[in-house]
Amino acid sequence: MSTLNHKSSTRNLYNRTASEWIRGEPSSLSDFTARPFVLELCEPVAGLRVLDIGCGEGYCSRELRRRGAAQVHGIDLSQGMIAAASLQEAEDALGISYEVGCATDLKQFDNGEIDLVVAVFLFNYLTIAQTQECMAEVARILRPGGRFVFSVPHPSFPYMREAAYPFYFQVDGTGYFSKRDQQFPGRIWKRDGSWLNVQLIHKTLEDYFNALKNAGFNTMPILQELRVTPEHIAIDESFFNSLLDQPLHLAIQVSR
Ligand SMILES: C[S@@+](CC[C@H](N)C(=O)[O-])C[C@H]1O[C@@H](n2cnc3c(N)ncnc32)[C@H](O)[C@@H]1O
Repeated sequence: MSTLNHKSSTRNLYNRTASEWIRGEPSSLSDFTARPFVLELCEPVAGLRVLDIGCGEGYCSRELRRRGAAQVHGIDLSQGMIAAASLQEAEDALGISYEVGCATDLKQFDNGEIDLVVAVFLFNYLTIAQTQECMAEVARILRPGGRFVFSVPHPSFPYMREAAYPFYFQVDGTGYFSKRDQQFPGRIWKRDGSWLNVQLIHKTLEDYFNALKNAGFNTMPILQELRVTPEHIAIDESFFNSLLDQPLHLAIQVSR
């Protein structure tokens, strides 16, 4: 599949499903197992100028603003997602701005203009080349000392797990190295029993770290391998238990 087709399949998926993503409190698996940890990695956010790339309907943008960010701007490829984010902003104004845009082209931002760039489950929709383009743009717009925080599905996860509730990417067998840059469908469930269709353009750990290095990030990143914790089990054992002891997501923070 070409890069253009990847983009239009992503745009179509999210335009179709935007309303299913709207939530005011944690609902899907990764709202518990990833986003709280990614947001914590963004701290301290008070007073910062923040860009949320692949902001979706604004779940993380809203939380970053509530945590005291001075400015939050969200961009997303999907008009449906941006409409959903803008509607929530109209109903409960937090002072966040949203626009339709692409992660690989951030030319509306000047060099060094942003303090914190956040990208929560964006890169699983980008090819290796697009990931490199995006990270180069992120490095350009971050001020010296500014931070880049992002989360991705753990690259090993799809190869350690069958396609089953409550989270999977269907890679069909082995191919950790040979299936780089190929796109696979996946599903992630909400605690209410419904699910969200998601996608993965598979990249290895090396692909992510090479992209950071090529973009000019040369400080030591902080890396967290996110998983089901005892606190999750205490909340809802039947939902989280089958994923216990599996590497679900990576959260990475790197400074410019
Ligand atoms: C899994 S959703 C996550 C949304 C949001 N970050 C959250 O945590 O709720 C991925 C989002 O990335 C967006 N996206 C995918 N490719 C993109 C691109 N090239 N540029 C901007 N946004 C993109 C999708 O439209 C979708 O809204």
